[in-house]
Amino acid sequence: MMGYSFFGHGNRSAYFCYMQKPTPIGVFDSGYGGLTVLKEIINRLPQYDYLYLGDNARAPYGNRSFETVYHYTLQCVKWFFEQGCSLVILACNTASAKALRTIQQNDLPEIAPGKRVLGVIRPTAEIIGSFSETNSVGVLATNGTVLSESYPMETAKFFPDLRVYQEACPMWVPLIEANEHTGHGADYFVKKNLHNIFEKGEDIDVILLACTHYPLLKDKIEEYLPVGVKLITQGEIVASSLADYLQRHPEIESRCSKNGRRDFYTTDSTEDFDNHTATFYGASITSKHMDLGQ
Ligand code: DGL
Repeated sequence: MMGYSFFGHGNRSAYFCYMQKPTPIGVFDSGYGGLTVLKEIINRLPQYDYLYLGDNARAPYGNRSFETVYHYTLQCVKWFFEQGCSLVILACNTASAKALRTIQQNDLPEIAPGKRVLGVIRPTAEIIGSFSETNSVGVLATNGTVLSESYPMETAKFFPDLRVYQEACPMWVPLIEANEHTGHGADYFVKKNLHNIFEKGEDIDVILLACTHYPLLKDKIEEYLPVGVKLITQGEIVASSLADYLQRHPEIESRCSKNGRRDFYTTDSTEDFDNHTATFYGASITSKHMDLGQ
């Protein structure tokens, strides 16, 4: 159990929230991808403590059912609450698309009414339309995110006239997780999925990488992107939205500890995690194991 764990379970947090000593901001992903978001969050908000959990043992989430992604994500969110976190960021589009709303609306009021869980889709949807001059955006994401229709639905709230074309890229995460994203095999799938999305929307001038793993393929995607098309990653968008959120919610901000501490947990092998993370995070990491206990 971690050093900064305090009273224990989230279901007591409503009563104890005013007595709680500050705790880290939780950052969750199905695996390594959330590290690309955490890196940008730390650039923007270095003063806070962060606790990262990658559910590598059950990744990728992208092709899994709604129920499975929800069940896995909720289990991990509860773990963050047990460590004392008051704020958890789902730095995973698939989890944000398939689990966030249910957790916010059904679970939080029951298990931890004073705590907050935020995702990456809403902050991206709030801004993505402003990058496009043709009013046409292409969203590259996992199957789960595409099928959820979360991006078309969320962007419509902020940019009602924006045309949103989606393309699922189910091979990209496995390529990245297998460290094959710089190899020649990745070219085939990058070209194929880009070709497909531009067939759907010829006037697309903004491509959004709506999966936190995809920034690892950025160089390769840029090679095959038509001239003039902007490539948008989410890390900075999410970081800036979090900064804004913390400013607008002092009751949550005051419960986030500020010692510049970072802790990393994985549900799978810590050795594998540590070997991969330089690529995603840009620095070496010594992770600890989180036991799913099943
Ligand atoms: N990184 C996750 C996302 O942003 C998905 C990766 C996975 O399929 O597990 O959607």
